[in-house]
Amino acid sequence: MTKDTVQRAGKFHVDAIQEKAATGKTRGTVGDIKAVDPVMRATGVDVFYGDKQAIRNISLEIGRNEVVAMIGPSGCGKSTFIRCFNRMNDTIENCRVQGDIWLDDEDIYDKDMDVVLLRARVGMVFQKPNPFPKSIYENVAYGPRIHGLAGNRTDLDAIVESSLAKAGLWEEVRDRLEQPGTGLSGGQQQRLCIARAIAVSPEVILMDEPCSALDPIATARIEDLIDELRKNYAIAIVTHSMQQAARVSQRTAYFHMGELVEVGATDQVFTNPRTKLTEDYITGRFG
Ligand SMILES: Nc1ncnc2c1ncn2[C@@H]1O[C@H](COP(=O)(O)OP(=O)(O)OP(=O)(O)O)[C@@H](O)[C@H]1O
Ligand SMILES: [Mg+2]
Repeated sequence: MTKDTVQRAGKFHVDAIQEKAATGKTRGTVGDIKAVDPVMRATGVDVFYGDKQAIRNISLEIGRNEVVAMIGPSGCGKSTFIRCFNRMNDTIENCRVQGDIWLDDEDIYDKDMDVVLLRARVGMVFQKPNPFPKSIYENVAYGPRIHGLAGNRTDLDAIVESSLAKAGLWEEVRDRLEQPGTGLSGGQQQRLCIARAIAVSPEVILMDEPCSALDPIATARIEDLIDELRKNYAIAIVTHSMQQAARVSQRTAYFHMGELVEVGATDQVFTNPRTKLTEDYITGRFG
């Protein structure tokens, strides 16, 4: 990227900020919000905590067989935004979501949407591994059982095994399925949580800093797994690690103060960012 381009991007941005100050409108997203084969589509999403607006007019698609990385400084709204995709914000008092989010052709904020089913179709993996205080087997079997996915114990056993296998954990736990999930190492617990999400055959997996509590070896395993899971699922991942975003994602979305500033192919965003805000963040000038 030439200095001239950076300056032009910077100039563009200053103009946008001045315009925002004058009009009160958001500056809009630079880049293409569309996925090649969208599974989820967010349009014009605003999120408020009480009177305070945390997300401003964000539109973004998550596509099949792709990983979208969401990056940006602490407090910019990544967790708030990713939680919109399976209505996890509903569980936060005072939190209000406006705008539309579609899963295939269903409006997930429709009053008739079954939220329990939605959260099976759009699974979530959190920063801190949170296995249930149950056995390894039960952690994975719980979802299929409540959603009636297995006709009998043999079917359930098969779902548990295949989910653990897809999460890269089967070989390590096959002889200790009755032991508590909380007795596993942090990295194993996170893979157990991924197995639990997979067990109910989701379409989308949301991950909010899934490796931030893990050591580099456990992190590398999860990153390999994310790449593998992409073959079957649409994935969105929030990460503070730029290296991780570059390694695992095909598209990157850069958030800043509640807005989606820029989105594009991961290579482009990291090597040739189109706004100064993105440039400053990825080069470590702030954040
Ligand atoms: N439960 C809540 N009640 C009130 N305000 C909240 C709540 N959760 C988040 N916020 C505010 O919303 C804004 C966005 O927070 P959010 O947690 O989404 O940011 P983030 O980008 O995920 O940050 P981090 O990288 O630190 O996890 C922040 O100003 C935060 O203080
Ligand atoms: Mg967060």
